Amino acid sequence: MAIIIDGKKIANDLCKKLSQKINILKVEHNIFPCLKVILVGSNPASQVYVRNKQKKAESVGINSETVVFSDNLSEDELIEKISELNKERFVHGILVQLPLPNHISASRVINTVSVEKDVDGFHDENVGRLVKGERNCLIPCTPKGSLDLIKLVESNLSGKNAVVIGRSNIVGKPMFHLLLQENCTVTILHSQSKDLAEYCSKADIVVAAVGKPNFVQKNWIKEGAIVIDVGINSVNIGGKPKLVGDVDFDGVKEKVKAITPVPGGVGPMTIAFLMINTVIAACLQGKVDAYDFVSSGL
Ligand code: GUN
Repeated sequence: MAIIIDGKKIANDLCKKLSQKINILKVEHNIFPCLKVILVGSNPASQVYVRNKQKKAESVGINSETVVFSDNLSEDELIEKISELNKERFVHGILVQLPLPNHISASRVINTVSVEKDVDGFHDENVGRLVKGERNCLIPCTPKGSLDLIKLVESNLSGKNAVVIGRSNIVGKPMFHLLLQENCTVTILHSQSKDLAEYCSKADIVVAAVGKPNFVQKNWIKEGAIVIDVGINSVNIGGKPKLVGDVDFDGVKEKVKAITPVPGGVGPMTIAFLMINTVIAACLQGKVDAYDFVSSGL
C-alpha cells in the first residue's frame, strides 16, 4: 500500500514549530517578521493563492499585508513600489505574485526585489547561490517543500535516479538543483523531450510539474517509486470544476512507495516554506544565523 503523503498535516506541523521560533525571534531578538505580498490584476487563481498566503502568515505570527494594484499599473510604478518596500527596515519579505500582466517584465520586477527580501528565491543572485549550493540563501518555496516531502519518505537520496518533468524557473529548474545537491542522478524532461515513459520507468523519484491534468501514467512509473505531483489543474467533471494534479493519481498510487495527492500535497508545503523563507529573510537582515535558527527543530 502506497503512503499517501499528507502535505496538509506536514505543513501544519511545520508552521506550528515555526510559530514558536517566531516568538523567540520577537522576544529574544526584537525581530518581528513582516511579509508584503503584491498582486497586480485580478487573476482568480492568483487571488486565491495570495489570500491563502496572507491567512497563513497571520496564523503563524508574521505581520503581513497584501497590496493590490489594477492591471493597468505601469512597470515603472511597480518598480517604484518595490523600491520603496526595499528601503522599509520593518519589511523582511517581498513577494510579487506571478504571472504579471504582459506589459510588465517579470524579470525586471523580480530583480528589483532586494536579494535579502526575495522570499520567492527568484532573484538572479539567489538562483546563482542555489546553483552553487550556498548556505543561508533563499530557495524557491515549491521545490523546497517538495524536497522536504521526499526526504520524509526517504532520508538518504544519494545515488537515486530522479526525473523532473517541467523546466520552469519556479519549479523544474530549482528542483533539479536541489535533487542534485542530494546526490541524485537527475534528468529534466520537458515539452520537447522524447521517450518520457522510458526515463520515468527508471526513476526512483518523479516530480511532475507540467500543468497537464493526468499527464503521468501508471505504466511510466517504476514499482516502489516516490511520486511528487506539483500540478494544480482545474478540470470539469460532470459539469463541476475539480482540482487534479499532473499525475493519474488513482492508477499510479497502486504501484508506488509514496505519492502526494492534489489538493493537500505540495500546495500547503509551498505556503509553509514561504513562511519559513520569510523567517530566514528576517534572520538574514537581523544578523541571526538563519541556517542554525530555522533548520534546528523544524
Ligand atoms: N505563481 C505561481 N507560483 C508562484 C510562486 O511560487 N511565487 C510567486 N510569486 N508567484 C507564483
